[in-house]
Amino acid sequence: MTRKQLEEVCVIGAGQMGSGIAQVCATSGYRVKLFDVNQTQLEKAKSGIYKSCEKLLDKGKLSLASFTSLKENLYFETKISELKNADIVIEAIVEDEAKKKEIFFELNKVVKETGIFASNTSSISIARLAEASRRPSQFIGLHFMNPVPLMRLVEVVTTLGTNAQTLEISKEFVTSLHKEITLSKNYPGFVVNRILMPMINEAFFALQDGLSSKEDIDKAMKLGTNQPMGPFELADFIGLDTCLSIMKVLYEGTSDSKYRPSLLLQEYVENGYLGRKVGQGVYSYS
Ligand code: NAI
Repeated sequence: MTRKQLEEVCVIGAGQMGSGIAQVCATSGYRVKLFDVNQTQLEKAKSGIYKSCEKLLDKGKLSLASFTSLKENLYFETKISELKNADIVIEAIVEDEAKKKEIFFELNKVVKETGIFASNTSSISIARLAEASRRPSQFIGLHFMNPVPLMRLVEVVTTLGTNAQTLEISKEFVTSLHKEITLSKNYPGFVVNRILMPMINEAFFALQDGLSSKEDIDKAMKLGTNQPMGPFELADFIGLDTCLSIMKVLYEGTSDSKYRPSLLLQEYVENGYLGRKVGQGVYSYS
């Protein structure tokens, strides 16, 4: 199968990443099915995608032809059986290994034999997910960045089992979405999160130690290192639960104590502050 034969892309999980991936694939001319177990989430995704396209259209960053292509090619599904004709499946459900394994196991039963499987996981082992899918040679990591319509990079992650054809088709596919590629091996956090997440985690340690206020830590990193967002602003944007999951994967996957998640980050997520922004809990760290 070559890129020209790739017609249908199925995206699993209609959260912030799945919505963005579906949007970019549909505006690039693919027939896209966005699947989620939650109908309300699909409705939210639909309105979010249309709003995002309208904004990009207004700013001249999206053509009318691409928006029309999306309107004609994007479908929203809650039945897994509708995904049987997928040429490529991109999984973007919650960062939970057991849940991802379960969905790949189910997808393998439904999707045609030639379909390629990809995971957008931020950190979980692509090899273990590939094994759960029962089609390891057709399995690859495609790690899109957030927000997908604006960010140019996709990390392409291979395992020892990924075959050359899957890699070539995946590279052509990513390029057809007007994204840049970096290749990396299957190692906890790959490249981007192995370097980025310890920085965010360190910001939580600094706050936990009372080193500075959250505002000043964000300001220091923005102005002092020329990053567009401070670490807490970025952590809020990514989602604190996702940040903690990635740190746990780095810590458990390497057995290296330098990756232990900060207690403060754990407290935010595990004590029910999920969905709140850093500093909006009952504790005041500033
Ligand atoms: P999210 O929490 O916004 O969305 C997850 C979606 O998956 C929800 O809509 C949920 O209903 C759905 N879902 C859960 N179980 C499902 C199942 N069994 N079948 C179908 N749908 C199911 O999560 P987000 O932030 O979009 O992350 C998704 C994946 O992308 C994670 O693996 C994450 O690590 C990765 N990622 C996240 C980035 C970020 O900045 N948030 C950046 C790059 C990758």
